[in-house]
Amino acid sequence: MPKPTGYTRRQIRLHWIIVLLVIVQFVLHEPMSDAWELIGKGESVAFSPLVASHVFGGILILLLTLWRVSIKIKRGSPALPENEPKAQQIAAHATHGILYLLLILLPLSGMSAWFGGILPAADAHGVMRIVLLVVVGLHFLAAIYHHFVLKTDVMRRMLKPED
Ligand code: HEM
Ligand code: HEM
Repeated sequence: MPKPTGYTRRQIRLHWIIVLLVIVQFVLHEPMSDAWELIGKGESVAFSPLVASHVFGGILILLLTLWRVSIKIKRGSPALPENEPKAQQIAAHATHGILYLLLILLPLSGMSAWFGGILPAADAHGVMRIVLLVVVGLHFLAAIYHHFVLKTDVMRRMLKPED
């Protein structure tokens, strides 16, 4: 199968929907950590739509990410810009791989803590959310650098579908 030259409309929508959902997870983090603190003290937690949105939003991120990965496996990935140094290509692939891994492990660790009461999973969740912030920051800077400094089509292909 020939290598695609860009992303499909579905892949692009999935990328930006997941970005929005991740932002919501961070913006609405407080009710979730408050609820978790109460559970830690052995107190009961009343139903809260904001806590439910963290749980279901996170599970939705997991499902959409698995869908996205399955499309990527079937279709392959567009090549990185020509003439890009090998080290930069490795960094791009590594960043994307780590992002996919975090989008899967964050919900899984959250679910293990919330539904299974597994405390180390909550600690891992806390560490991974910081790693996600750092890696997304690098990813964002790389996208901006590609667009404005290197003037490649990398940003455009995550906005405009190939098909
Ligand atoms: C990609 C998806 C997710 C992201 C980005 C995310 C992000 C976060 C963030 C930023 C916090 C706040 C931590 C703090 O303020 O200390 C948090 C806490 C928490 N999340 Fe998630 N979360 C995700 C998915 C989930 C899911 C699916 C569940 C459960 C079903 C979950 C359960 C929890 C729990 C129990 C806490 C409290 C743990 C603690 O404060 O140490 N999370 N999450
Ligand atoms: C929660 C935040 C984000 C996550 C988790 C995320 C995740 C990803 C992943 C996993 C890929 C790899 C796609 C693939 O080839 O399979 C990707 C590609 C891309 N992302 Fe993001 N992203 C985020 C935010 C952003 C932001 C804020 C921007 C730009 C302003 C951006 C721009 C891009 C671009 C341009 C590509 C295409 C790279 C290429 O074609 O080589 N992303 N993103």
